[in-house]
Amino acid sequence: MKRIIITGVVLGLLIAGMSVSFAIKNEGAERIIINGGRMGNIDFPHHQHQNVLQDCKTCHILFPQKEGSIDRLKAEKLLKKMQVMANCRGCHRDRKEKGLKAGPTSCTKCHNKKLKLEGSGMGKTAGFH
Ligand code: HEC
Ligand code: HEC
Ligand code: HEC
Repeated sequence: MKRIIITGVVLGLLIAGMSVSFAIKNEGAERIIINGGRMGNIDFPHHQHQNVLQDCKTCHILFPQKEGSIDRLKAEKLLKKMQVMANCRGCHRDRKEKGLKAGPTSCTKCHNKKLKLEGSGMGKTAGFH
């Protein structure tokens, strides 16, 4: 009897803890239009990557979890042009070589000249200012 009560209490605490951490965690927009310069912008499925990779740091080691941070760091020369892109492409290429599911490596599969940063009607607009 006692054991059942304790188990119940522990479970209750666990569930409460889990919902608190879910509420605090900011996962950002589901899709993000990334500024890709003259090659055209990139329609980036953010949450799909979070689900597949299960590790925010694979990207956010380069830039903080803040809207517009890539453009800001590039403007401040703290990120080189195409440095973030090299990380995106490098992962896709490595995974493809290993036969794992991966994203595109060819330029126009990511860059789309018709994709506008603002007023695109997608989840959100990233960067640009
Ligand atoms: C595959 C790359 C990648 C991964 C993995 C990733 N993010 Fe992001 N995240 C981005 C990009 C790109 C941006 C947009 C940055 C910008 O606007 O310059 C971003 C922006 C954000 C923002 C700012 C709000 C927004 O929507 O722009 C938050 C918050 C965020 N990410 C949270 C997370 C969390 C939490 C995880 C892990 C669960 C995660 N991200 C994993 C690429 C990634
Ligand atoms: C996996 C997606 C992806 C692929 C494939 C890709 N790019 Fe990019 N590219 C990006 C992202 C994201 C950025 C913006 C961040 C950055 O500059 O690192 C970018 C930025 C750029 C920029 C702008 C840099 C600046 O600051 O002016 C150029 C130019 C560019 N890419 C050219 C190319 C060319 C050429 C190819 C093919 C050889 C290519 N990209 C393939 C994602 C990609
Ligand atoms: C650490 C590995 C990794 C990094 C870093 C990464 N990706 Fe990916 N990407 C993946 C994987 C894995 C998939 C396939 C997901 C799936 O099929 O569910 C993918 C898929 C994609 C797709 C295709 C989505 C679709 O299903 O249509 C695009 C576009 C893409 N990535 C863009 C990017 C851009 C832009 C960046 C950098 C900001 C980036 N990725 C960074 C692993 C990565």
